[in-house]
Amino acid sequence: MSSTLSVINSQYHRSFDINGYKPLEKGTFSLEFDREKQTGRKFSDSTKLRYLVKSSERPNFDLREGYPDRYIKMDRSMKEGLSHMLEWILKENYVLQPGTFVGRRGYLTKILTTPYENNEGWLLAVSLFNGTYYFREMETEAARRFKETRNARLEEMTYWGYKFEHYMCTDEPNGKPNTKGVVNSNEGYYTVVESKINEHTLLFSGEVDCKNETPLYQTAPSYYVELKTNAKLVNQNKNYQFRRYKLLKWWAQSFLAGVPLIVAGFRTEDGIVKETKPYKTSEIPALAAADSRSWKPTTCMEFINAFLSFIKSEVTQDDPGVVYLFSWEPKDDVSYTVHRDPKYTFLHDWYVEGMTKRARV
Ligand code: A3P
Ligand code: MG
Repeated sequence: MSSTLSVINSQYHRSFDINGYKPLEKGTFSLEFDREKQTGRKFSDSTKLRYLVKSSERPNFDLREGYPDRYIKMDRSMKEGLSHMLEWILKENYVLQPGTFVGRRGYLTKILTTPYENNEGWLLAVSLFNGTYYFREMETEAARRFKETRNARLEEMTYWGYKFEHYMCTDEPNGKPNTKGVVNSNEGYYTVVESKINEHTLLFSGEVDCKNETPLYQTAPSYYVELKTNAKLVNQNKNYQFRRYKLLKWWAQSFLAGVPLIVAGFRTEDGIVKETKPYKTSEIPALAAADSRSWKPTTCMEFINAFLSFIKSEVTQDDPGVVYLFSWEPKDDVSYTVHRDPKYTFLHDWYVEGMTKRARV
């Protein structure tokens, strides 16, 4: 019987130094849509970076506009995994410090928010190769079922999130948004970030919505902005209400990559945004603390730190053909199984060969 890791959040109530977490941008890449193949995705540099529109705080954005005619939907089948990150490492000849964890921000966000997650479990595949821990998410059975039963309204509401970006961003600094264009969720601009959580080093990619063109912030990631939509709910004191743990998810995603600003678009039930409001990522935990069901960022960071240490103590076979599958379900401990089955391996041959060749030079 292999060891397990407890996720009871009271065990992680220690004082992690949140202000000491300082992510650094190591590079960027963009994904472009190949119009000829209709599905292809291309790799380039920062061509897909967009710029925040200095819009009024009282807009009237119809998020339904253009749906479904001007929507090219991303295939969320998760097959892509780590390939863009691996391609970036090879292309940039990036030197990985021993013991680095390499993955995508979305997977880290799930780990970070685990102490407060009551609904969705996760499956994380980890392989150790040349002293580096690579991780990628695998689809759980519940997630697969949920995807298959998504209804038409949920599909349309996913579009709303992307359409909000179209109202809020331009392709050129100080340009005008092209709100009549096609919404293509395959395209995106990514930052590659290195950060430290105690003695653990992480290298991960994260999609960035746009850049705030202001003399105040001259460097990445401090000029990045995350855009979010939220149903407008107001309590008796005229304060905004958020669905349970929504602010935790917003905070975790932006905090990990060092994105300091989140611009929220408050929408009606019919998808009309009538108000936008900026939130500093650093102020979100205090905002959420007003809620009696609040969460602590320190608990999240202590948990992810413990989980990374757990990976290091359990993942011992340095072999890209061996996959340690960590799994967690709400109210349970984290446990794992070890596999040699190619159906789980995720480090591509081209990457293993590329890195091996590099080591020989
Ligand atoms: P909202 O977050 O405003 O709902 P992100 O905010 O991470 O940049 O993602 C942009 C939009 O993509 C989201 O907008 C949402 O519409 C959609 N989206 C992101 N993750 C998703 C997921 N796991 N399933 C469905 N839609 C998702
Ligand atoms: Mg966003």
